Parts: sequence; C-alpha cells; structure tokens
Amino acid sequence: MQDKLTTNAGQPWADNEHSQTAGKRGPVLIQDYALLEKLAHFNRERIPERIVHAKGAGAKGVFELTHDMSAYTTADLFNGAGKKTPLMVRFSQVAGEAGYPDTYRDVRGFAVKFYTQEGNYDIVGNNTPVFFVNDPLKFPDFIHSQKRDPRTHKRTPDMQWDFWSLSPESVHQVTYLMGDRGIPASYRTMHGYGSHTFKWVNKEGEQFWVKYHFRTDQGVKNMSNELADQMLIKDLDFLQNDLFNAIEDGEYPSWTLYAQILPYEEGLKYEHDIFECYKSSFAKKIPIN
Ligand code: HEM
Repeated sequence: MQDKLTTNAGQPWADNEHSQTAGKRGPVLIQDYALLEKLAHFNRERIPERIVHAKGAGAKGVFELTHDMSAYTTADLFNGAGKKTPLMVRFSQVAGEAGYPDTYRDVRGFAVKFYTQEGNYDIVGNNTPVFFVNDPLKFPDFIHSQKRDPRTHKRTPDMQWDFWSLSPESVHQVTYLMGDRGIPASYRTMHGYGSHTFKWVNKEGEQFWVKYHFRTDQGVKNMSNELADQMLIKDLDFLQNDLFNAIEDGEYPSWTLYAQILPYEEGLKYEHDIFECYKSSFAKKIPIN
C-alpha cells in the first residue's frame, strides 16, 4: 500500500540488512523486534490451514471518512472529513475446511484491515452483531462442536446443538445463523459488524464505548435453503466467484461504516450490564484458593 518499508504492523522500518547488536561485535539484541518479526514470518511461510475461517475471499478498497470523529477519537483514520485510508477486506466461512462449499449455512467473517497513517488497524468482524460466547475459554469447545466428530469424521448436528443448548448465551447468534441471514446470497449483500465493544478516546482523554456497523449499500440479500443446495452442485466457490466477477465487471461493492457510540460512564451505569451476556445457568464460578 505504501512504498516505504514497514513492519507487519505498518511501522516505518529504516534498515532491512542489519540486526541490532550490543556494540560492534556484541550479541544480537532481543529488543530488535524487526529481526524477530522477520524470522517469525519466515518460519511460518508454509501456512497450515486455519482452524477457523479457512476459506475466504478478499479485495482491496478505500475508506473515505464522511464525518469528522475527532470529538470522540484521536485515531487518524477517523479524523478529518474527506480523508481516504486504503484497506483490505476478507470475507470468509467459519467452520468448514478450505474446500468447503460457499453456500453452507454458516456465519461469515468480515475482516477489515485499514492501512492508516499510524499503522495497521484491524476490525476482525462477522456478519452478525453478536457472538456465540462471551468467554474466550469456551471458543475452542464451541468450534470443536462445529467440526468433525473424531470417531466418525462426520459433521454432527448433535454436537452443535449440545453446545448451543448448554450455552444459552449463544441463543442470539444462533437465531441469526438459523434465520434468514444464515446463507448470504453474496458477500456483497451482507452487513459486517465489529461485534466486540471497542473504546475510543478523544484528545481531552474522554472515553467512549463504540460498536462498528458496516452496512451494505447493495441491500441485504440471502438465499433460501433450496437455492443454496442448487448452488452447491453448480459452484462450490459461489461467493468467491460472485465477488471476483462483480469487481472484474466494474460493479464495485461498497459499505457505509456507522459507529454506535456510548459515553463511558453512561455505559457503565446502563440498566443492563453491557458486557455480560446471558450466562449459562450451568456455569459455576470456581474459587481459586
Ligand atoms: C472468542 C475467542 C476467539 C478465538 C479464540 C478466535 C480464534 C480465531 C483464530 C485462531 C483464527 C484464525 C487466525 C489465523 O489462522 O490466521 C480466527 C480468525 C478469525 N476470527 Fe476469530 N476467534 C475468536 C472470536 C472471534 C469473534 C468474536 C469474531 C468476530 C467478531 C471473530 C472473527 C474472526 C474472523 C473474521 C477471522 C478471519 C480473519 C481473516 O479473514 O483473516 N473471531 N479467529
């Protein structure tokens, strides 16, 4: 995106040929994060399939700020109406493997990387405004319930529903998944959401709770189960190809980004706890002695 050399996080990097050492002959320093990052990247150049979001499709784009947000945040990309920030977006399926059909009922990833003047800013969202679990400790168990049974190697609805029914906090997102929005007709016709609550801070130090909503300008469009089944036979990569073909044809999709903003104190005093979703009635807090 920029022609100057940067680290993965977008920090300018002056010297790509010399590690930092303690003096001329001294040892290489562990503080040299650019060296560590370069080696870490090299060691992982053969990338195994991702455990989630293995299959996806992305495109480059640009974010144009229409409303100055400096009253709420000092973040460069949200300051100065008219500012343009390059970005990359990757849409993905969640549960299936890399060869999995695009038209299976599944949540879709909606990951946006903004290449800002202050470094890269990632919003790793989904096409749902809420999430299945509140506590990351449950995430591997949740995902395992969506994957293949280790004994049969089959995907097993019983496992999925066991998890969901025993995790009542998942009910809101399960409703999204099993409802009309569970099979988007196109990546271009779905909304994206940061899902998490983020915090913005302005130059006076005032804090705000923020949720990101990317609303599709193409309008929301989904598939019926029947159409999705037909597409499965016709084109396993339906969503990827739809995105590629639209862009090739000059039909560039767009989204309008909205920020839902709540002053910090107001958020804490709200009548409901805005961070605690419904906790499993089976969950017990285990005291640590
Ligand atoms: C709760 C704990 C969570 C864990 C442990 C987790 C774990 C992961 C892992 C391991 C990956 C694959 C990374 C890679 O191999 O490059 C991933 C990707 C992803 N996750 Fe999560 N995740 C969690 C929650 C979430 C939530 C709440 C969202 C949405 C708001 C989300 C959205 C995504 C997306 C969109 C990707 C794909 C990013 C891309 O396209 O490059 N995840 N996650």
